[in-house]
Amino acid sequence: MPSFAEARVDLDAISANVAVLVERAAGALVMGVVKADGYGHGMVPAARAALAGGATWLGTAFIDEALGLRAAGIDAPLLAWIVPPGEPIAEAVEAGIDIGVGSTWTADEVVAAARRTGRTARVQVKADTGLNRGGIGEADWPRVIEAVARAEADGLVTVTGLFSHFACADEPGHPSVAAQLAVFHEALEFAEKAGLRPEVRHIANSAAALTLPEARFDLVRPGIAAYGLSPVPGLDVPGLRPAMTLSARVAGCKRVPAGSGVSYGYRYTTDRETTLALVPLGYGDGVPRAATNTGPVLVGGRRRTIAGTVCMDQFVVDIGDDTVEPGDRAVLFGPGDGGEPTAQDWADALGTISYEIVTRVGRRVPRAYTGAAR
Ligand SMILES: Cc1ncc(COP(=O)(O)O)c(C=O)c1O
Repeated sequence: MPSFAEARVDLDAISANVAVLVERAAGALVMGVVKADGYGHGMVPAARAALAGGATWLGTAFIDEALGLRAAGIDAPLLAWIVPPGEPIAEAVEAGIDIGVGSTWTADEVVAAARRTGRTARVQVKADTGLNRGGIGEADWPRVIEAVARAEADGLVTVTGLFSHFACADEPGHPSVAAQLAVFHEALEFAEKAGLRPEVRHIANSAAALTLPEARFDLVRPGIAAYGLSPVPGLDVPGLRPAMTLSARVAGCKRVPAGSGVSYGYRYTTDRETTLALVPLGYGDGVPRAATNTGPVLVGGRRRTIAGTVCMDQFVVDIGDDTVEPGDRAVLFGPGDGGEPTAQDWADALGTISYEIVTRVGRRVPRAYTGAAR
């Protein structure tokens, strides 16, 4: 692996962020969400760091991700919540992974897998309370909840949880938040009447965990906040520290005259004689092409803006009359205390969310881990 670029991941920061979330959860359990390769930080190291910080559950989107955690020797309770046809449900049952039942199809398949394997499946029913994405819609509650209650009575499944997910928790005060909470209470009541006694009832992502005490129930499911980024732009959460720093060594510098077009399409033209520094990271590494003439970067001790089009493997920075040596580090984002931009700064510059900035850092960029939890 070339070492000119790296995504440095501070595992101690993840553990400390989770410890902050544990404290803020005020008695509710914390599930560290490590889907999508731990939001780009590396699933297994992020999971271990989250557990070291006090998370007692881990959450993934897909069963394969949860199986990856088990293969790494992690025996904490795991929930995988997106289960399309073709997912290895029987393997999940064998591995003791909680399966999110968010469709009538999944409910039937999990019961069938439990029969086939002779193992009791652990299931968590996902109620759609208004996100209108995954989850059992209210019209299907009777069919699914009564089916899993029957399967539980038959010893085929244990219903360990009932959960849901907010649409607009990152906009505190949005009317849908209270509406979804009310529907979640109805779902819990319906399940209780059907005889279910799930050990964990949960609906809160990072934003709700931090801003809405009445949404904590038995467990909260923070993802982005565990990586040190605020789920609500502008909301300062004391103690959170961004865990990832993305940087690359400058590959070369050259002096060019005024009026030089820079990079594909000449979307940037120098307005004076100047020095251009070449940074070997591009959209092939997850730097959005939309960062053309927009993305912030720390080079030579100063914050600058990408000059011209972001290419697949590289982009250019206009450093004026400053001196930067090939091999010096250009920092795209990090915790921000060295003057570098943050992932939130990138999100603001590009009109997206910090989640996308960290999660899209590509496989070609080696992760370098610091900190105790491995
Ligand atoms: C079902 C579910 N729970 C929790 C999370 C974590 O959300 P966040 O990263 O906003 O804390 C996600 C992430 O999208 C999710 O899909």
